Amino acid sequence: MTFVIGEPCIDVLDKSCMDVCPMDCIYTGLRKNYINASECIDCSACSDVCPVDAIYPAASASTDSQRLFEADSIEFFSSTLPGREQPLGEVGGSLKIGDIGTDTPLVAERES
Ligand code: F3S
Repeated sequence: MTFVIGEPCIDVLDKSCMDVCPMDCIYTGLRKNYINASECIDCSACSDVCPVDAIYPAASASTDSQRLFEADSIEFFSSTLPGREQPLGEVGGSLKIGDIGTDTPLVAERES
């Protein structure tokens, strides 16, 4: 299982979640953060600190928006994002790569 960052993160981007993640598996786009599902160890630390309650366990996604953003989190790592030449794939830690500086089309086109 993994945790997912949903729509409330867009344009808030508080980043407290990154400070507490023991796996460094939360990556910064332009308007939103994304959790890499294959690096997340399901500790829930991020979910506890987000000031807008944007983070939830994928297994408990119950609304259309939560399911949409679960799929979109996978897309962030598996698709070629706007302005990049290849998918991010398995980076091995957000500190290694820094801010990605672009979002999935879903997030980029979302009204704030
Ligand atoms: Fe976003 Fe909440 Fe993290 S606003 S950047 S998910 S602390």
